[in-house]
Amino acid sequence: MNNSTLYYGNINESLINFLQRESYSKLFILVDENTLSDCYPILNIDQAQIIQIESGEKNKTIHSCQSIWADLLKYKADRQALLINLGGGVIGDMGGFCASTFKRGIRFINIPTTLLAMVDASIGGKTGIDFMQQKNMIGSFTSPHAIFVDPIFLHTLSSRLLLSGKAEMLKHGLIANEAHFKSCLEVLKPDLALIKESISIKDKIVKHDPYEKGIRKSLNFGHTMGHAIESLALIEGEDLLHGEAVALGMILELKLSVLYAGLDSQLATNIIQDLSKIYGQVKLSPSYITSLIDRCENDKKNNSKGINFSLLGQLGQAQNNVSLSPDEILQIAMN
Ligand SMILES: NC(=O)c1ccc[n+]([C@@H]2O[C@H](COP(=O)([O-])OP(=O)(O)OC[C@H]3O[C@@H](n4cnc5c(N)ncnc54)[C@H](O)[C@@H]3O)[C@@H](O)[C@H]2O)c1
Ligand SMILES: [Zn+2]
Repeated sequence: MNNSTLYYGNINESLINFLQRESYSKLFILVDENTLSDCYPILNIDQAQIIQIESGEKNKTIHSCQSIWADLLKYKADRQALLINLGGGVIGDMGGFCASTFKRGIRFINIPTTLLAMVDASIGGKTGIDFMQQKNMIGSFTSPHAIFVDPIFLHTLSSRLLLSGKAEMLKHGLIANEAHFKSCLEVLKPDLALIKESISIKDKIVKHDPYEKGIRKSLNFGHTMGHAIESLALIEGEDLLHGEAVALGMILELKLSVLYAGLDSQLATNIIQDLSKIYGQVKLSPSYITSLIDRCENDKKNNSKGINFSLLGQLGQAQNNVSLSPDEILQIAMN
């Protein structure tokens, strides 16, 4: 667990060296239509069988897994095969899950092609799919053998997708490093140095606590509400990216942090302003917050005491395991 090697920079150089060192019976590349057209041509790799699924969170489902497993079978993948996940977090999460379960597990590597997947989704060994409109309900902790981070893939990414990835970088700053938060606020397309800094914050945390028993929970800041916002959007067919949902989730959880984790209220207001300038305002009506609470009640992180949050006590410091009742959460719609 969590023994992935990270390679930075020129993808072809590091990938070719890696593949020459290891021995695999067959290579498979998992793509969606966008990474097939925009990212696959960048790779100098032949003799790999392409497996394609449709892009988007709505396809992060067991149906797509069935089609991936069927292709692996059809093209005779054995247990020495390698699955190369070429794409954003959806490809990485779902490809990792399919690899970790196919024939009781084949090896896989991640080549993240979105900013979000580079700084967050590829790192830390969480794989999975959505189930019954609940985010990441089925999955495993299985690490890729290697992760290849090359900003070359960011050239074809829209500003909207760059901002979505930046939300997770801002989160890394908020929970662990104020200076990183400030540096990320200032750029749209981060360079490799800033990407590395963000990865190292996450990597350090997950190495300490791979199975999320303690400090890893701090990475869930913004995600209890964020996942509820994302699930509701999914149900309503609304177009909302993961990072956008997390940014709105962080705004709500900053408000909760003031009420229940001792975060300075002026500081929270300033951060909320910074986030709202980029990601817009979050709805605060009691009916909307109530529907988010309903979604939260199925969250994997809950315990018998209530809905579980990782909040901020100070800038750069998370406070984990804050259990709140629906009434306590609803207070943010009352102020
Ligand atoms: N496993 C984890 O720890 C973890 C952490 C954070 C997020 N996630 C998951 O990651 C997912 C979100 O990831 P995402 O934002 O990368 O979404 P995504 O994988 O859906 O990619 C977003 C879009 O960008 C396209 N795309 C990908 N690379 C491109 C490129 N280089 N150029 C042009 N288009 C490109 C994709 O085809 C897709 O349409 C969510 O499902 C979330 O739950 C997982
Ligand atoms: Zn996230």
